[in-house]
Amino acid sequence: MTERPTLRRYMTRHSALDGLDPNLIFLIEDIASACRVIGNSLRNAAFEGNHGLVGDTNVQGEDQKKLDVVADETFARICENSPRLAALVSEEREEATWLKEPEEGDYLLYYDPLDGSSNIEVGLSVGSIFSICQVEKDGDRTLLKKGRAQVAAGYAIYGPAMMLVLTLGHGVDGFTCEYGTGDFRLTHPSMTVPAKTREFAINASRYRYWQSPVRRYVDECIAGTEGPRGEAFNMRWTASMVAEVHRILIRGGVFLYPQDTENAAKGGRLRLLYEANPMGAIIEQAGGAASTGTMPILDLMPDDFHQRVGVILGSADEVNRVAEYHAQDRAAG
Ligand code: F6P
Repeated sequence: MTERPTLRRYMTRHSALDGLDPNLIFLIEDIASACRVIGNSLRNAAFEGNHGLVGDTNVQGEDQKKLDVVADETFARICENSPRLAALVSEEREEATWLKEPEEGDYLLYYDPLDGSSNIEVGLSVGSIFSICQVEKDGDRTLLKKGRAQVAAGYAIYGPAMMLVLTLGHGVDGFTCEYGTGDFRLTHPSMTVPAKTREFAINASRYRYWQSPVRRYVDECIAGTEGPRGEAFNMRWTASMVAEVHRILIRGGVFLYPQDTENAAKGGRLRLLYEANPMGAIIEQAGGAASTGTMPILDLMPDDFHQRVGVILGSADEVNRVAEYHAQDRAAG
């Protein structure tokens, strides 16, 4: 029978093999617990009066759903127990939450508690995204770190099954929450982004705002067998980044939420520290690529913890092609 170790067993093995810090294990277990509870809140939302809007906007100026708040509070309440967690940065909170005086090696948790929440009432997949970095020296309150500094990253997807997808910097593994026990068990070891793809995901209603390299790329895909690519492409858009990234990990593809003329003043649409960086790490660790269009996402130095950025990620050949179109566009002036 196929062995399907629990998340705890998997991490304990990593601890023995490559010295994974037990405090990081505790934190990831807390994140997994928070995701389990959020999954239950999603399932029971109609009974608990948790559908709909709070009637307020979050720090991003976006309508806040009741479940955004429930998920944020769940994450914070459960993860705050982690003994070496120094600070939390959430999409739903304007300020960082410091939990202790930071000491070297303490952890910093960045998270989007409920990504794609417009999908909830229509019964489509949503997720939670997280990224973990470390305090570099005692007393250091620096929260602005490049994506390369992440020591772990991942997401939970609340879909037909609940899954946790995780990287500890050595590849990507996927765990399915077993109905009944609630255990996350390793069902998708060594996930890789298939190199060859004929599927792209972009919100095409924004065509009028796109810059020419993005238009060129999408136009060529749409031109199909008669176009320069000589191949027919398919398009998908779920409006939930977690669902798009999960699909790309399973069957390949490329996801674009580029900086365009409408969102450029804000830097883009998606957030760097708790969306683009963790998803960029997952995709790179799975053999794909993640770019802003002009540079690898993970090399970008943030200047604000709610910073937004253009995101192009997925199969490396396609991401590199879009980056190359940007480079040619810049060279042409
Ligand atoms: O960040 C929020 C998010 O919901 C992403 O998950 C998703 O990719 C995107 O916004 C959807 O954007 P749009 O509303 O343009 O479809």
